[in-house]
Amino acid sequence: MPYRLRENVLRLAPYSPGKPIDEVKRELGLTDVVKLASNENPFGPSPRVTEALARAAGTLNLYPDASGHAVKEALGRHYGIGPAQIALGNGSDELIHLLALILLEGGLGNVVLGSPSFVRYEAAAGVADVAVKAVPLDRDYRHDLGAMAQAVDAETRLVFIANPHNPTGTAVGRDDLRRFLDRLPDTVVTVLDEAYFEYGRGVGDYPDGLEFVREGRNVVVLRTFSKAYGLAGLRLGYAFAGPDIVDAMDRAREPFNVNSLAQAAAVAALADQAHVEDGVARNSAGLQRIERAAAQMGLRTIPSLANFVVVHLGRPAGPVFQELLKRGVIVRSGEVLGLPGSIRVSVGTEDEVERFLQAFEEVMKVEVPA
Ligand SMILES: Cc1ncc(COP(=O)(O)O)c(C=O)c1O
Repeated sequence: MPYRLRENVLRLAPYSPGKPIDEVKRELGLTDVVKLASNENPFGPSPRVTEALARAAGTLNLYPDASGHAVKEALGRHYGIGPAQIALGNGSDELIHLLALILLEGGLGNVVLGSPSFVRYEAAAGVADVAVKAVPLDRDYRHDLGAMAQAVDAETRLVFIANPHNPTGTAVGRDDLRRFLDRLPDTVVTVLDEAYFEYGRGVGDYPDGLEFVREGRNVVVLRTFSKAYGLAGLRLGYAFAGPDIVDAMDRAREPFNVNSLAQAAAVAALADQAHVEDGVARNSAGLQRIERAAAQMGLRTIPSLANFVVVHLGRPAGPVFQELLKRGVIVRSGEVLGLPGSIRVSVGTEDEVERFLQAFEEVMKVEVPA
Protein backbone atom coordinates (compact mmCIF):
# COMPACT_ATOMS: atom_id res chain seq x y z
CA MET A 1 0.00 0.00 0.00
CA PRO A 2 1.28 3.52 -0.74
CA TYR A 3 0.01 4.85 2.57
CA ARG A 4 1.50 4.12 5.98
CA LEU A 5 -0.49 3.18 9.06
CA ARG A 6 1.35 4.26 12.19
CA GLU A 7 3.12 1.31 13.72
CA ASN A 8 2.36 2.30 17.30
CA VAL A 9 -1.34 2.25 16.38
CA LEU A 10 -1.04 -1.20 14.82
CA ARG A 11 0.56 -2.41 18.05
CA LEU A 12 -2.52 -1.40 20.07
CA ALA A 13 -4.70 -4.24 21.29
CA PRO A 14 -8.31 -3.67 20.14
CA TYR A 15 -10.61 -2.97 23.11
CA SER A 16 -12.41 -6.10 24.20
CA PRO A 17 -15.67 -5.16 25.90
CA GLY A 18 -17.77 -7.37 28.17
CA LYS A 19 -19.65 -9.93 26.07
CA PRO A 20 -22.96 -8.44 24.86
CA ILE A 21 -26.18 -10.15 26.04
CA ASP A 22 -27.50 -10.70 22.49
CA GLU A 23 -24.25 -12.36 21.38
CA VAL A 24 -24.42 -14.84 24.29
CA LYS A 25 -28.09 -15.56 23.54
CA ARG A 26 -27.28 -16.21 19.87
CA GLU A 27 -24.17 -18.30 20.48
CA LEU A 28 -25.55 -20.46 23.28
CA GLY A 29 -29.23 -20.56 22.28
CA LEU A 30 -30.28 -18.96 25.58
CA THR A 31 -33.25 -16.68 26.14
CA ASP A 32 -32.55 -15.31 29.60
CA VAL A 33 -29.09 -13.84 30.09
CA VAL A 34 -27.77 -11.42 32.73
CA LYS A 35 -24.69 -9.29 32.17
CA LEU A 36 -22.55 -8.45 35.19
CA ALA A 37 -19.45 -7.69 33.17
CA SER A 38 -19.13 -3.98 32.43
CA ASN A 39 -19.81 -2.28 35.77
CA GLU A 40 -23.04 -0.83 34.44
CA ASN A 41 -25.75 0.45 36.76
CA PRO A 42 -28.58 -2.12 36.83
CA PHE A 43 -31.04 0.35 38.40
CA GLY A 44 -30.89 2.76 35.46
CA PRO A 45 -31.24 6.54 35.46
CA SER A 46 -33.69 8.72 37.37
CA PRO A 47 -37.24 8.85 35.93
CA ARG A 48 -36.60 12.61 35.53
CA VAL A 49 -34.03 11.71 32.88
CA THR A 50 -36.60 9.87 30.79
CA GLU A 51 -38.85 12.95 30.84
CA ALA A 52 -35.96 15.26 29.92
CA LEU A 53 -35.01 12.95 27.04
CA ALA A 54 -38.55 13.04 25.64
CA ARG A 55 -38.44 16.85 25.66
CA ALA A 56 -34.94 16.97 24.13
CA ALA A 57 -36.01 14.62 21.34
CA GLY A 58 -37.89 17.59 19.83
CA THR A 59 -34.63 19.44 19.15
CA LEU A 60 -32.67 16.71 17.40
CA ASN A 61 -32.58 18.67 14.13
CA LEU A 62 -30.27 21.18 15.84
CA TYR A 63 -26.62 20.80 16.76
CA PRO A 64 -25.98 20.43 20.47
CA ASP A 65 -24.67 23.34 22.56
CA ALA A 66 -20.94 23.14 21.83
CA SER A 67 -20.11 24.84 25.12
CA GLY A 68 -22.22 22.45 27.22
CA HIS A 69 -23.37 25.53 29.12
CA ALA A 70 -26.31 24.01 31.03
CA VAL A 71 -24.35 20.91 32.06
CA LYS A 72 -21.38 22.95 33.26
CA GLU A 73 -23.68 25.25 35.18
CA ALA A 74 -25.43 22.30 36.86
CA LEU A 75 -22.11 20.59 37.66
CA GLY A 76 -20.66 23.88 38.88
CA ARG A 77 -23.58 24.41 41.23
CA HIS A 78 -23.49 20.83 42.48
CA TYR A 79 -19.75 20.77 43.17
CA GLY A 80 -19.01 24.45 43.78
CA ILE A 81 -16.58 25.02 40.91
CA GLY A 82 -16.59 27.47 37.99
CA PRO A 83 -17.19 26.51 34.33
CA ALA A 84 -13.60 27.43 33.38
CA GLN A 85 -12.49 24.40 35.40
CA ILE A 86 -14.89 21.90 33.82
CA ALA A 87 -14.41 19.97 30.57
CA LEU A 88 -17.03 17.64 29.10
CA GLY A 89 -16.41 14.54 27.02
CA ASN A 90 -18.13 11.74 25.16
CA GLY A 91 -17.69 9.56 28.24
CA SER A 92 -14.62 9.89 30.43
CA ASP A 93 -12.99 7.58 27.88
CA GLU A 94 -12.82 10.51 25.49
CA LEU A 95 -11.31 12.73 28.18
CA ILE A 96 -8.55 10.17 28.82
CA HIS A 97 -7.63 10.37 25.13
CA LEU A 98 -7.93 14.17 25.09
CA LEU A 99 -5.52 14.42 28.01
CA ALA A 100 -3.03 12.26 26.13
CA LEU A 101 -3.51 14.46 23.07
CA ILE A 102 -2.75 17.70 24.91
CA LEU A 103 -0.01 16.43 27.23
CA LEU A 104 1.89 13.75 25.30
CA GLU A 105 4.07 14.16 22.24
CA GLY A 106 5.03 11.30 19.95
CA GLY A 107 7.79 9.18 21.40
CA LEU A 108 8.68 11.65 24.17
CA GLY A 109 8.49 11.13 27.92
CA ASN A 110 6.57 8.44 29.74
CA VAL A 111 3.31 7.71 31.51
CA VAL A 112 3.16 6.07 34.95
CA LEU A 113 0.22 3.85 35.87
CA GLY A 114 -0.69 0.88 38.04
CA SER A 115 -0.61 -2.72 36.88
CA PRO A 116 -3.21 -3.94 36.27
CA SER A 117 -5.07 -0.74 35.37
CA PHE A 118 -8.06 0.41 33.40
CA VAL A 119 -6.99 -0.47 29.85
CA ARG A 120 -7.75 2.88 28.24
CA TYR A 121 -4.79 4.59 29.94
CA GLU A 122 -2.33 2.37 28.15
CA ALA A 123 -4.26 2.79 24.90
CA ALA A 124 -4.08 6.59 25.21
CA ALA A 125 -0.31 6.40 25.76
CA GLY A 126 -0.03 3.93 22.88
CA VAL A 127 -1.80 6.23 20.40
CA ALA A 128 0.66 8.97 21.39
CA ASP A 129 3.52 6.44 21.06
CA VAL A 130 4.73 7.21 24.56
CA ALA A 131 6.38 4.66 26.87
CA VAL A 132 4.40 3.28 29.79
CA LYS A 133 5.86 2.54 33.22
CA ALA A 134 3.45 0.06 34.76
CA VAL A 135 3.91 -0.25 38.53
CA PRO A 136 2.47 -3.41 40.14
CA LEU A 137 -0.30 -2.84 42.69
CA ASP A 138 0.65 -3.63 46.29
CA ARG A 139 -0.31 -6.92 47.93
CA ASP A 140 -3.70 -5.49 48.92
CA TYR A 141 -4.35 -4.70 45.23
CA ARG A 142 -4.08 -0.94 45.85
CA HIS A 143 -1.96 1.50 43.92
CA ASP A 144 1.54 1.31 45.37
CA LEU A 145 1.95 5.06 45.67
CA GLY A 146 5.50 4.82 47.05
CA ALA A 147 6.65 2.71 44.10
CA MET A 148 4.75 4.92 41.66
CA ALA A 149 6.43 8.07 43.05
CA GLN A 150 9.78 6.33 42.57
CA ALA A 151 8.88 5.41 38.99
CA VAL A 152 8.20 9.06 38.15
CA ASP A 153 11.26 10.65 36.57
CA ALA A 154 12.16 13.87 34.76
CA GLU A 155 10.53 12.49 31.58
CA THR A 156 7.17 11.63 33.15
CA ARG A 157 4.27 13.66 31.77
CA LEU A 158 1.20 11.90 33.12
CA VAL A 159 0.25 9.63 36.03
CA PHE A 160 -3.05 7.76 36.00
CA ILE A 161 -4.71 6.67 39.25
CA ALA A 162 -8.23 5.29 39.19
CA ASN A 163 -9.76 5.76 42.62
CA PRO A 164 -11.62 3.46 43.25
CA HIS A 165 -9.49 1.41 40.92
CA ASN A 166 -10.73 -0.73 38.06
CA PRO A 167 -10.36 -3.76 37.91
CA THR A 168 -9.84 -4.19 41.68
CA GLY A 169 -12.35 -1.79 43.34
CA THR A 170 -9.68 -0.71 45.85
CA ALA A 171 -9.01 2.91 46.80
CA VAL A 172 -6.11 4.95 48.13
CA GLY A 173 -6.77 7.18 51.15
CA ARG A 174 -6.67 10.95 51.38
CA ASP A 175 -3.41 11.35 53.33
CA ASP A 176 -1.50 8.82 51.24
CA LEU A 177 -2.65 10.56 48.09
CA ARG A 178 -1.65 13.96 49.42
CA ARG A 179 1.83 12.68 50.35
CA PHE A 180 2.16 11.17 46.88
CA LEU A 181 1.18 14.40 45.13
CA ASP A 182 3.62 16.33 47.35
CA ARG A 183 6.46 14.15 46.05
CA LEU A 184 5.81 14.81 42.33
CA PRO A 185 7.68 17.39 40.27
CA ASP A 186 5.59 20.26 38.76
CA THR A 187 6.12 18.82 35.30
CA VAL A 188 3.78 15.90 36.02
CA VAL A 189 -0.01 15.94 35.68
CA THR A 190 -1.85 13.37 37.79
CA VAL A 191 -5.18 12.11 36.51
CA LEU A 192 -7.44 10.95 39.34
CA ASP A 193 -10.05 8.89 37.57
CA GLU A 194 -13.06 8.89 39.87
CA ALA A 195 -15.52 7.04 37.62
CA TYR A 196 -16.84 5.25 40.75
CA PHE A 197 -16.67 8.33 43.03
CA GLU A 198 -20.30 8.22 44.20
CA TYR A 199 -19.88 4.65 45.48
CA GLY A 200 -16.78 5.52 47.51
CA ARG A 201 -17.88 8.95 48.74
CA GLY A 202 -18.03 9.13 52.54
CA VAL A 203 -16.53 5.68 53.07
CA GLY A 204 -13.52 5.66 55.45
CA ASP A 205 -10.73 7.95 54.26
CA TYR A 206 -11.80 7.87 50.60
CA PRO A 207 -10.73 11.24 49.20
CA ASP A 208 -12.62 13.75 47.07
CA GLY A 209 -10.11 14.57 44.32
CA LEU A 210 -11.74 17.93 43.72
CA GLU A 211 -10.03 19.11 46.91
CA PHE A 212 -6.66 18.81 45.12
CA VAL A 213 -7.93 20.67 42.04
CA ARG A 214 -9.19 23.49 44.28
CA GLU A 215 -5.73 23.71 45.84
CA GLY A 216 -4.36 24.45 42.38
CA ARG A 217 -2.34 21.22 42.11
CA ASN A 218 -1.51 19.57 38.78
CA VAL A 219 -4.45 17.23 39.17
CA VAL A 220 -7.23 16.38 36.74
CA VAL A 221 -10.27 14.68 38.24
CA LEU A 222 -12.40 12.57 35.89
CA ARG A 223 -15.98 11.63 36.69
CA THR A 224 -18.83 10.21 34.66
CA PHE A 225 -22.58 9.85 34.31
CA SER A 226 -22.04 6.22 33.22
CA LYS A 227 -21.96 4.58 36.63
CA ALA A 228 -23.94 5.92 39.62
CA TYR A 229 -26.14 8.03 37.31
CA GLY A 230 -26.95 5.01 35.15
CA LEU A 231 -26.31 6.69 31.77
CA ALA A 232 -23.50 4.65 30.19
CA GLY A 233 -25.32 4.49 26.86
CA LEU A 234 -25.53 8.27 26.47
CA ARG A 235 -21.77 8.87 26.94
CA LEU A 236 -21.04 11.86 29.16
CA GLY A 237 -17.97 12.27 31.31
CA TYR A 238 -16.47 15.39 32.86
CA ALA A 239 -13.14 16.65 34.09
CA PHE A 240 -12.24 19.14 36.81
CA ALA A 241 -8.86 20.74 36.21
CA GLY A 242 -6.93 23.98 36.10
CA PRO A 243 -8.31 26.50 33.55
CA ASP A 244 -5.24 26.10 31.29
CA ILE A 245 -5.78 22.35 30.97
CA VAL A 246 -9.53 22.79 30.39
CA ASP A 247 -8.77 25.42 27.74
CA ALA A 248 -6.34 23.08 25.94
CA MET A 249 -8.89 20.24 26.04
CA ASP A 250 -11.50 22.58 24.60
CA ARG A 251 -9.21 23.54 21.73
CA ALA A 252 -8.33 19.94 20.90
CA ARG A 253 -11.78 18.36 21.17
CA GLU A 254 -14.34 17.81 18.48
CA PRO A 255 -16.77 20.78 18.89
CA PHE A 256 -19.96 18.72 19.29
CA ASN A 257 -18.48 15.88 21.34
CA VAL A 258 -21.42 15.73 23.76
CA ASN A 259 -24.77 15.19 22.08
CA SER A 260 -27.90 17.10 23.04
CA LEU A 261 -29.69 14.10 24.60
CA ALA A 262 -26.72 13.47 26.89
CA GLN A 263 -26.66 17.14 27.91
CA ALA A 264 -30.38 17.21 28.74
CA ALA A 265 -30.11 13.90 30.61
CA ALA A 266 -27.15 15.06 32.68
CA VAL A 267 -28.91 18.17 33.97
CA ALA A 268 -31.98 16.13 34.96
CA ALA A 269 -29.86 13.37 36.52
CA LEU A 270 -27.89 15.79 38.68
CA ALA A 271 -31.13 17.24 40.03
CA ASP A 272 -32.18 13.84 41.43
CA GLN A 273 -29.55 13.02 44.04
CA ALA A 274 -32.04 10.88 45.99
CA HIS A 275 -32.06 8.46 43.05
CA VAL A 276 -28.26 8.28 43.07
CA GLU A 277 -28.16 7.67 46.82
CA ASP A 278 -30.78 4.94 46.54
CA GLY A 279 -28.74 3.19 43.82
CA VAL A 280 -25.55 3.50 45.87
CA ALA A 281 -27.28 1.94 48.91
CA ARG A 282 -28.68 -0.93 46.84
CA ASN A 283 -25.25 -1.44 45.30
CA SER A 284 -23.69 -1.66 48.72
CA ALA A 285 -26.25 -4.28 49.82
CA GLY A 286 -25.59 -6.33 46.65
CA LEU A 287 -21.84 -6.08 47.12
CA GLN A 288 -22.12 -7.33 50.70
CA ARG A 289 -24.38 -10.17 49.60
CA ILE A 290 -21.76 -11.35 47.08
CA GLU A 291 -18.91 -10.93 49.58
CA ARG A 292 -20.76 -12.93 52.26
CA ALA A 293 -21.74 -15.71 49.85
CA ALA A 294 -18.15 -15.95 48.57
CA ALA A 295 -16.84 -16.15 52.15
CA GLN A 296 -19.29 -18.95 52.88
CA MET A 297 -17.90 -20.79 49.86
CA GLY A 298 -14.42 -20.33 51.33
CA LEU A 299 -13.42 -17.81 48.63
CA ARG A 300 -11.63 -14.52 49.16
CA THR A 301 -12.77 -11.24 47.61
CA ILE A 302 -10.94 -7.95 47.18
CA PRO A 303 -12.64 -5.34 49.41
CA SER A 304 -14.35 -2.98 46.95
CA LEU A 305 -15.56 0.62 47.09
CA ALA A 306 -17.11 0.39 43.63
CA ASN A 307 -20.03 -1.37 41.90
CA PHE A 308 -18.12 -4.56 41.21
CA VAL A 309 -16.05 -7.06 43.15
CA VAL A 310 -13.19 -9.41 42.35
CA VAL A 311 -13.60 -12.98 43.62
CA HIS A 312 -10.48 -15.15 43.89
CA LEU A 313 -11.32 -18.63 42.65
CA GLY A 314 -8.23 -20.61 43.58
CA ARG A 315 -8.36 -22.14 40.11
CA PRO A 316 -8.14 -20.93 36.49
CA ALA A 317 -10.90 -18.45 35.69
CA GLY A 318 -11.44 -19.36 32.01
CA PRO A 319 -13.50 -22.54 32.58
CA VAL A 320 -15.52 -20.91 35.39
CA PHE A 321 -16.29 -17.96 33.11
CA GLN A 322 -17.41 -20.39 30.35
CA GLU A 323 -19.59 -22.46 32.69
CA LEU A 324 -21.25 -19.30 34.01
CA LEU A 325 -21.90 -18.23 30.42
CA LYS A 326 -23.63 -21.55 29.70
CA ARG A 327 -25.92 -20.75 32.62
CA GLY A 328 -26.70 -17.33 31.15
CA VAL A 329 -24.48 -15.25 33.44
CA ILE A 330 -21.81 -13.00 31.91
CA VAL A 331 -18.98 -11.87 34.20
CA ARG A 332 -15.41 -10.82 33.37
CA SER A 333 -12.64 -13.37 33.54
CA GLY A 334 -9.69 -12.06 35.54
CA GLU A 335 -7.37 -13.57 32.92
CA VAL A 336 -8.15 -10.66 30.58
CA LEU A 337 -7.96 -8.07 33.38
CA GLY A 338 -4.52 -8.99 34.72
CA LEU A 339 -6.03 -10.84 37.71
CA PRO A 340 -5.54 -14.53 36.86
CA GLY A 341 -7.53 -17.04 38.89
CA SER A 342 -10.27 -14.49 39.58
CA ILE A 343 -13.50 -13.18 38.16
CA ARG A 344 -14.79 -9.62 38.33
CA VAL A 345 -18.52 -9.42 38.96
CA SER A 346 -20.54 -6.23 38.58
CA VAL A 347 -23.28 -5.78 41.17
CA GLY A 348 -26.66 -6.33 39.51
CA THR A 349 -30.20 -5.94 40.77
CA GLU A 350 -31.18 -8.06 43.77
CA ASP A 351 -32.54 -10.76 41.38
CA GLU A 352 -29.46 -10.67 39.17
CA VAL A 353 -27.18 -11.09 42.17
CA GLU A 354 -29.18 -14.16 43.30
CA ARG A 355 -29.09 -15.55 39.78
CA PHE A 356 -25.29 -15.14 39.67
CA LEU A 357 -24.80 -16.72 43.10
CA GLN A 358 -26.94 -19.72 42.24
CA ALA A 359 -25.00 -20.34 39.01
CA PHE A 360 -21.67 -19.62 40.71
CA GLU A 361 -22.25 -22.06 43.57
CA GLU A 362 -23.26 -24.72 41.05
CA VAL A 363 -20.17 -24.12 38.88
CA MET A 364 -17.74 -24.07 41.80
CA LYS A 365 -19.07 -27.41 43.10
CA VAL A 366 -18.14 -29.27 39.95
CA GLU A 367 -14.62 -29.94 38.73
CA VAL A 368 -14.74 -27.83 35.59
CA PRO A 369 -12.46 -29.09 32.80
CA ALA A 370 -9.35 -26.90 32.38
C1 LIG B 1 -11.83 3.57 35.84
C2 LIG B 1 -12.71 3.90 34.68
N1 LIG B 1 -12.52 5.05 34.03
C3 LIG B 1 -13.28 5.40 32.98
C4 LIG B 1 -14.28 4.56 32.51
C5 LIG B 1 -15.04 4.98 31.30
O1 LIG B 1 -16.23 5.54 31.63
P1 LIG B 1 -17.11 6.35 30.59
O2 LIG B 1 -18.33 5.52 30.36
O3 LIG B 1 -17.39 7.65 31.24
O4 LIG B 1 -16.30 6.52 29.33
C6 LIG B 1 -14.51 3.35 33.15
C7 LIG B 1 -15.54 2.44 32.63
O5 LIG B 1 -15.71 1.33 33.00
C8 LIG B 1 -13.70 3.00 34.25
O6 LIG B 1 -13.85 1.83 34.87
